[in-house]
Amino acid sequence: MERPDRPLEPFEPLEPFDAFRVRRSCLAVPASSERFISKAHGLPADEVFLDLEDAVAPAAKAQARANAVAAVTGDWGGRVLAVRVNDASTPWAHRDVIDVVSAAGRLDVIVLPKVTSPDHVVWLDLLLGQVEREAGLTPGRTGIEAQIEDAAGLAAVNAIAAASPRLEALVFGPADFMASVGIRSLDVGGQPAGYAGGDVYHYALMRILIAARARGLQAIDGPYLKVRDVDGFRRSAASAAALGYDGKWVLHPDQIDAANEVFAPSADDFARASRIVEAYEHATGVQARGAVMFGDEMIDEASHKMARAIVARGRASGLGHDGPPGDHRQDAPGLDAGTGSENT
Ligand code: GLV
Ligand code: MG
Repeated sequence: MERPDRPLEPFEPLEPFDAFRVRRSCLAVPASSERFISKAHGLPADEVFLDLEDAVAPAAKAQARANAVAAVTGDWGGRVLAVRVNDASTPWAHRDVIDVVSAAGRLDVIVLPKVTSPDHVVWLDLLLGQVEREAGLTPGRTGIEAQIEDAAGLAAVNAIAAASPRLEALVFGPADFMASVGIRSLDVGGQPAGYAGGDVYHYALMRILIAARARGLQAIDGPYLKVRDVDGFRRSAASAAALGYDGKWVLHPDQIDAANEVFAPSADDFARASRIVEAYEHATGVQARGAVMFGDEMIDEASHKMARAIVARGRASGLGHDGPPGDHRQDAPGLDAGTGSENT
């Protein structure tokens, strides 16, 4: 679903975009590799993002951008199609955005890395508006995912989450974050030896989650670098999912199925959530009651919201309808709401 198709005065604030795009698995594909790009078409990741940033050496940036421009015009089915541009402090960022957005007409999202202040998002929002207008695209159609990857970004995360109606998700970047705050490990996504406090990522993950949810955004966990350790990946993903995260980056095809399973609701949860939605809507619509008994449980608007989020995610994961798998976009009004890359 596209953002509202209506004429806008220059820089009129945009309506928040309320489509629920499922992002259980977000596949990183280095845009410098045509082989990886081509392989990505056949992989079942919910989101594919072509990476122009850290997976691409400076000398390969221009070629990677040209590959991304060619790739975004291809057929990517129903999955979310994104490009990770270089960060706002680099000489490449503006050209990345202009070229990939003008080329596509189909690009769903720009992933903006190393967001350290809301200014970065405001800059991207304005530039996207200019590029969309010049290219004759619906103003506001391109969404933004902001990566929170250092101490400054985490400290400003509430303001970042509020910086643009184009924002759809906040994404944790553990590798850069570990370097920024001095976590004593090179095992990105794993736990450092010697830490006695539990999960070393918990504070950052929770802070990002709260900032995201306060603005109706999705929260996505970053990469797990030991791509051959699928059990370790699964544990890390399951922990983020239990906390409330919507999905996780995947760097390798072997991680995709695990992410899709871990972040989908179980069939039982989906069925129960569907019944809660039905019961609550009957109670409010037909009986004009705001709180009703559901079995031996009292349900109200809050239960309804939680249940609708599960139903939307379950439908997008192929539960409860016979629609084509791979159509990952579901309307979820009221919800305030993949190749083979081995790089971050
Ligand atoms: C991803 O960009 C990370 O730094 O972990
Ligand atoms: Mg990073």
